[in-house]
Amino acid sequence: MPFQNIVFLTEDASHDAAIDLINEEAFGPGRFVRAAERVREQGPHDRGLSFVGSDRGEIIASVRMTPIHAGTVAGHLLGPLAVRPSHKNLGIGRELVRIVLAVAEKSGSQAVLLVGDPLYYAPLGFARTKPGALTMPGPFDAHRLLAACYSDVDPMALEGEIRHRDRK
Ligand SMILES: CC(C)(COP(=O)(O)OP(=O)(O)OC[C@H]1O[C@@H](n2cnc3c(N)ncnc32)[C@H](O)[C@@H]1OP(=O)(O)O)[C@@H](O)C(=O)NCCC(=O)NCCS
Repeated sequence: MPFQNIVFLTEDASHDAAIDLINEEAFGPGRFVRAAERVREQGPHDRGLSFVGSDRGEIIASVRMTPIHAGTVAGHLLGPLAVRPSHKNLGIGRELVRIVLAVAEKSGSQAVLLVGDPLYYAPLGFARTKPGALTMPGPFDAHRLLAACYSDVDPMALEGEIRHRDRK
């Protein structure tokens, strides 16, 4: 199916069941033990900055954004990002990332962080953070903690705890 058939929509509650299935299919039960998930459990994601991909009414991809602090920087944690196997390699994942980066910047976010593959995310504007400078409530591979920053924030200068903004 061509990329042109895909419509990108701001997430709403009617997408929740489809998103759960997409993430279950992509990550399996192991997704709940990841450090990023520990952060996401601390508070709600921001639906206004989260998007789905729809193919003729069927939700086939999702990306969520969660408001966080990374030390003193107010930003967002990107993820989960997942595309259904039937729709992989059409550019949908990259388009979802481009969309959420644009809306996050517009909303005043100072940085978008994620744990992911640098080869996939570097061309989209993500850079490595300083290994060991940032912590999360659980173990993660520090070399995969990436950031796309705005307003003169330097990814290498980020330091401190990554936590949901609702958590004081
Ligand atoms: C990773 C994922 C979101 C990519 O979505 P997608 O719509 O298929 O990706 P795109 O079409 O935008 O990009 C495809 C390109 O990314 C590459 N790619 C896919 N996953 C990759 C990864 N983990 N690391 C590096 N490159 C990757 C593909 O090989 C392809 O390369 P090419 O353009 O040179 O052929 C999707 O494969 C997926 O849902 N995977 C399972 C869940 C997951 O791993 N999510 C990311 C967590 S950080």
